Amino acid sequence: MSTDGHYDNIKDYYGKVLSSTKDLKTSACCAAEKPHPIIRQHLLQIPEAVLSRFYGCGNPVPLGIEGLSVLDLGCGTGRDCYLAAGLVGPKGAVIGVDMTEEQLKVARNSLQEFEQNIGYKPNMRFVQGFIEALDDIIPSSSIDVCISNCVINLSPDKEAVLRGVYNALKPGGEFYFSDVYADRRIPAHVQSQKVLQGECLAGALYVQDFLRLCHKIGFTEPRRLSTSTIDVTDPDLSDICGNIKFYSITYRLFKLPELESICEDYGQVATYLGTLQGHKHYYDLDDHHQFVTGKPMLVCGNTADMVGQSWLGKHFKVEGDRSVHFGVFECGTGKENDNGRAGPCC
Ligand SMILES: C[S@@+](CC[C@H](N)C(=O)[O-])C[C@H]1O[C@@H](n2cnc3c(N)ncnc32)[C@H](O)[C@@H]1O
Repeated sequence: MSTDGHYDNIKDYYGKVLSSTKDLKTSACCAAEKPHPIIRQHLLQIPEAVLSRFYGCGNPVPLGIEGLSVLDLGCGTGRDCYLAAGLVGPKGAVIGVDMTEEQLKVARNSLQEFEQNIGYKPNMRFVQGFIEALDDIIPSSSIDVCISNCVINLSPDKEAVLRGVYNALKPGGEFYFSDVYADRRIPAHVQSQKVLQGECLAGALYVQDFLRLCHKIGFTEPRRLSTSTIDVTDPDLSDICGNIKFYSITYRLFKLPELESICEDYGQVATYLGTLQGHKHYYDLDDHHQFVTGKPMLVCGNTADMVGQSWLGKHFKVEGDRSVHFGVFECGTGKENDNGRAGPCC
């Protein structure tokens, strides 16, 4: 993607062209999935000025983050920061980063009303900056959970963003984010269309290229949590896009150095303790791992690390280590896995 005038176009789109969610021309920046009931309760505490300017495509704020440090990339007017602030509570911390002044102004001006609603001063700040230059803003290894909602597609340098996130995360930290993806590489004539740029479609990443990029950075096994289809209903924009299919996908990328490129079997067993907020009876790690509370589950080495060595660790009991190897972990789905390899996956 060419960067000539790119940032100015995006800043104009979010700072001047759009004044509320109603002004959007496609459904790309509209989260289709229904949030968890606990999230819906927290939404009631967020000022209307923030809620009416929500341009996210998913629900990337995990429950169970009390006391943690959260970073939101491209926070806009701050809906997800406000949600995270309620969930991390007075002992946690939230930082929102965005490049567009007008968006941050709404975010900052809504702080006082939010404080009154929740009854304490949240440890939350909004910083103006580029997500491609996180190292200038966030100390390395300082963040537990990085979130982002419909932003990375807008970046002309996605590799720099992912590198910065990797550096900002603590070991065991996680990048949990929703964004727009395409089923193919976006051709130049679509990339250069200004409305499609602003609406988060022109810069959508081809899923397989995104997975390759994750591997390169060190996010060795991306896990997909949810997927929904995006419809380009405007006839002119749809005509420009042709046969491209767009999706909103929520991925989980863990900073765990021992993750392997495919799932290996070490005979490890993980049991979910039922202690994550809002997940008393079961927990979905991703779209193909549901842990039922109290039920031991045979897992691959990567899943054992994700639930045992990450910020989720205190909510799982993991038995076994990697001292004995039993071969590739067979999950029997026979589907192509997230690494683009046919065959066993987990
Ligand atoms: C689609 S909006 C999403 C805003 C917010 N996450 C939400 O859910 O409402 C994209 C936001 O990303 C910001 N943004 C885009 N590219 C950026 C970049 N390279 N650095 C910092 N912010 C960026 C824009 O200013 C805009 O506020």
